Amino acid sequence: MRGESVIFLCCLITLALGKGLKLEFSWSRITYQWPKDGQYLKRQVKTESRYRGPGGTGRSSDVITFEGMTNANEFDADGPGVGAARGPPDNIDYQFVNNIPMGANVWRNKLFITVPRRRLGVPSTLNYIPLDSPLKQDVPLIPYPSWEINLFPGPRENFVSVYRVAIDPCDRLWFVDTGIIETPGNTTIVKQSEIVVIDLKTDRILQRYTIPEDQTTPTSNLASLTIDVTENSCSDAYAYIPDLGGYGLIVYSLRENRSWKVRHNYFYVEPLAGEFFIAGHHFQWNDGIFSVELTDIKKDGYRDMYFHSMAGTNLYRVSTRILRNETLATRSYHEDDFQFVGDRGPNSQTSSADIHKPTNIMFLGLVNQNALGCANLDFATADIVQRDDQRMIYPTDVKIVKDKVYVFTNTMPEFLYGRLNYDEVNFRLWQNTVQGAVEGTKCEGRKPPRTSY
Ligand SMILES: *[C@@H]1O[C@H](CO)[C@@H](O)[C@H](O)[C@H]1NC(C)=O
Ligand SMILES: *[C@@H]1O[C@H](CO)[C@@H](O)[C@H](O)[C@H]1NC(C)=O
Ligand SMILES: *[C@@H]1O[C@H](CO)[C@@H](O)[C@H](O)[C@H]1NC(C)=O
Repeated sequence: MRGESVIFLCCLITLALGKGLKLEFSWSRITYQWPKDGQYLKRQVKTESRYRGPGGTGRSSDVITFEGMTNANEFDADGPGVGAARGPPDNIDYQFVNNIPMGANVWRNKLFITVPRRRLGVPSTLNYIPLDSPLKQDVPLIPYPSWEINLFPGPRENFVSVYRVAIDPCDRLWFVDTGIIETPGNTTIVKQSEIVVIDLKTDRILQRYTIPEDQTTPTSNLASLTIDVTENSCSDAYAYIPDLGGYGLIVYSLRENRSWKVRHNYFYVEPLAGEFFIAGHHFQWNDGIFSVELTDIKKDGYRDMYFHSMAGTNLYRVSTRILRNETLATRSYHEDDFQFVGDRGPNSQTSSADIHKPTNIMFLGLVNQNALGCANLDFATADIVQRDDQRMIYPTDVKIVKDKVYVFTNTMPEFLYGRLNYDEVNFRLWQNTVQGAVEGTKCEGRKPPRTSY
């Protein structure tokens, strides 16, 4: 087994003073660019025959509609922050204490920020801010692609709850709308989970796909997805969606507009690795397969997919040659299709991760260490890029965009088990170039592998 050569991330303290990460944006509480009351917000009562509420009563809902499909012209007159100062219109439910952003990703000048509806009072789940905003603190979020489609309650096509988004080389934004409002004690399934694909150049929805009920379970949680595509074959894309609560992997083919569910023992919680100690709180989690990362295309024409459980320290991989073929992906005996790469060591529990494909450096959100880690793909080399027990609590999203690494930290354990102080900074976006981030670490100086195609 490769496990022998694994270096424990836990034992490596950053002695080398690498450049690490730079703080780019920070928030103490989340606000929004509120629509201009009256001018853009028209209140209408209309019957949405397709919308059946949680109880399936089919009652008509009080639908709020806006003029115009996108935000394109809504905010031109206002500089950043002006709309936030105006305050929410009376008919939008906003409770800032319930707005905990979970995901961040970048496309051109847009920094997407998602706020899943895990409580009531989240006015909009999918949002962005301009990446070049001169304001760096408490920048109000702009709903994407429009206010209208982010409202809840609303028509059936409205986005209910989004955890994280993926962006592919074909300028498309992908996400899973879980369809669930997760208020503790009052979980409301508004609709079956959906995959949504948006054309970022036109802000139009390209595809919606409802994940079949037999591919999810009552404990399913589809909190991230990773897209397998090249810019030369945009129509032949696959989405890999880990189900951290249902311990499965959903594979979706865009061309076939169809999905299948992959099952494997490696997707489960590791019983001895469910212990967390973050921000002064001890707790146990049972999250399985949490995020999946793709390598570049290998000689056989397929990528490798790396994966790990949140409550776990092992790293595994499987070729997308298996995943993309439904017969192979769903066969009951998998032989050695799925491989154990190694144990990353105590306290290496990881939320989100991503691979910088030209150098094969993996970046990992080390939730139990308030840190970003780096490693090569067989984990023979691993190190800490940056650790900060005050300012990097809970790295919830890690994304590589071209040659930059972005890390979003959101202090979530304090929200769940303690009490967030909304007068202090709680949510932060960190960034650096990949080379800058690993400078001075053991991950530095890895040459891009030679490619033969
Ligand atoms: C439960 O949640 C739904 C929306 O998800 C909300 O309309 C309802 O008021 C909530 N019920 C209680 C008792 O909070
Ligand atoms: C894809 O499948 C969904 C069902 O979830 C269907 O509503 C939609 O029309 C399909 N799209 C295309 C382009 O076939
Ligand atoms: C999927 O794999 C099976 C078994 O190896 C093979 O017979 C089949 O041709 C493959 N399907 C595709 C579409 O490649």
